[in-house]
Amino acid sequence: MNVSREAVGKILVVGGGRMGSAILNGWLDQGFVPSNIYLIDRDANTLKQYETQGVHTFTAVEDVPKNLVFDIFLLALKPQIIAASVEQFDHLISPKTCLVSVAAGVMVNTLKQLLPSAKNVVRVMPNTPAMIGKGVMVGFSYEQDMFGELVESLFATLGSFHWIIDENQMHAVTAVSGSGPAYLFYFAQCFVESAKKLGLPEALAETLALETVIGAANLIEQSDDDVETLRHNVTSPNGTTQAGLAALMEGNTVKSRVEACCLAAAKRSLELS
Ligand SMILES: NC(=O)c1ccc[n+]([C@@H]2O[C@H](COP(=O)([O-])OP(=O)(O)OC[C@H]3O[C@@H](n4cnc5c(N)ncnc54)[C@H](OP(=O)(O)O)[C@@H]3O)[C@@H](O)[C@H]2O)c1
Repeated sequence: MNVSREAVGKILVVGGGRMGSAILNGWLDQGFVPSNIYLIDRDANTLKQYETQGVHTFTAVEDVPKNLVFDIFLLALKPQIIAASVEQFDHLISPKTCLVSVAAGVMVNTLKQLLPSAKNVVRVMPNTPAMIGKGVMVGFSYEQDMFGELVESLFATLGSFHWIIDENQMHAVTAVSGSGPAYLFYFAQCFVESAKKLGLPEALAETLALETVIGAANLIEQSDDDVETLRHNVTSPNGTTQAGLAALMEGNTVKSRVEACCLAAAKRSLELS
């Protein structure tokens, strides 16, 4: 199903922070009608930037007109805040509303307990490249037949979309694609710092390191080879790349740190559930 931007209906976004904004910006860039979007956030500055684009904005739930029926309720609050205060939004959910939660760790059954009016719940784990149409989104729902196609078509405008059929896999998904951009930003930061330490001027160090990361990512996307083959292809025996990789791979420490990183994120997702 390819839902037209106008046919999506009314979308309520609760929480215009990093993830709520990433999704909202992505939808606006993709031509979603701003007057069909309603945003609740506590920060007046955040709201102002969307208000000027034609989005309906509210600092408090009491200000949202009572007669509105939302097709999509996008919950983009921090998991801790959801547990403590989400019930105030329950009256904004009608039987025809699909609740879409992007919160890490918060399970469907917990959401249904906290928001008893929500009969249709879809969890989506996005990541921040969604704001430039390059996100990876993973969905889970017990009622996928009802709203699955609508939710998939909404989020597929922001990148690629994949379903899982076991909610427990959401912890691993969160650890890999949800939190993943931050790991790669950290790698890129270390790479820039190393380039500077080698004596390159700051601006050049940044350009060379970051454009290499971007170029390599594009090559992964466009090549038919897997990442291991791509690495072998640029590693001549006894060359500079081999010398660098030998140092990077010594003792398998990078591999075990990456494993520890993903494991810790998945464990935290489980703790939040
Ligand atoms: N960031 C990511 O990369 C990422 C990736 C995947 C999933 N997620 C999920 O996305 C959700 C949001 O994360 P985030 O990083 O976007 O958090 P965030 O930046 O803190 O955004 C939450 C926003 O909601 C606002 N808010 C808090 N309580 C509110 C209330 N009662 N009414 C209205 N607005 C309220 C916050 O305002 P204040 O700042 O004033 O508290 C903030 O602007 C989380 O559940 C997270 O698990 C995030």
